[in-house]
Amino acid sequence: MAIITWIDEYNVNIKVIDEQHQHLVNILNRISEVDIADEDKEKRQIRRVFAELADYMTYHFDTEEEILKAANYPYFQWHKQQHYELAKQLLELQISFSKGDSTVSVELLELLNHWLIDHILDSDKKYVPFLHSKSLF
Ligand SMILES: [Fe+2]
Repeated sequence: MAIITWIDEYNVNIKVIDEQHQHLVNILNRISEVDIADEDKEKRQIRRVFAELADYMTYHFDTEEEILKAANYPYFQWHKQQHYELAKQLLELQISFSKGDSTVSVELLELLNHWLIDHILDSDKKYVPFLHSKSLF
């Protein structure tokens, strides 16, 4: 069962961004499919989710930052800082997990939930009217 079900409210209505956000959610949702009956397998699967999430998050943040920078978004640095904080939190969780902290998958879900709710619904949605006002997207 999916952990996060994509709903229309999560869309910023910029195709490339929405597709990337949905892809991040799809990666995250794979946490619910890990095989908890087999500890080694579970660890391998979670490790893979972390790695894919970290890779794709970097790719996604770069996409957003390129768009915002090119548009001269006035809160570009603030937005970039938020991305940096999220990436740092993910990295810290990844390190805890590799040291054997088993509560980390719960924290990973919380981080991503926080990212989804606060970042998309608040920070990301703030740049949309600006991009529209510049006739971008
Ligand atoms: Fe963002």
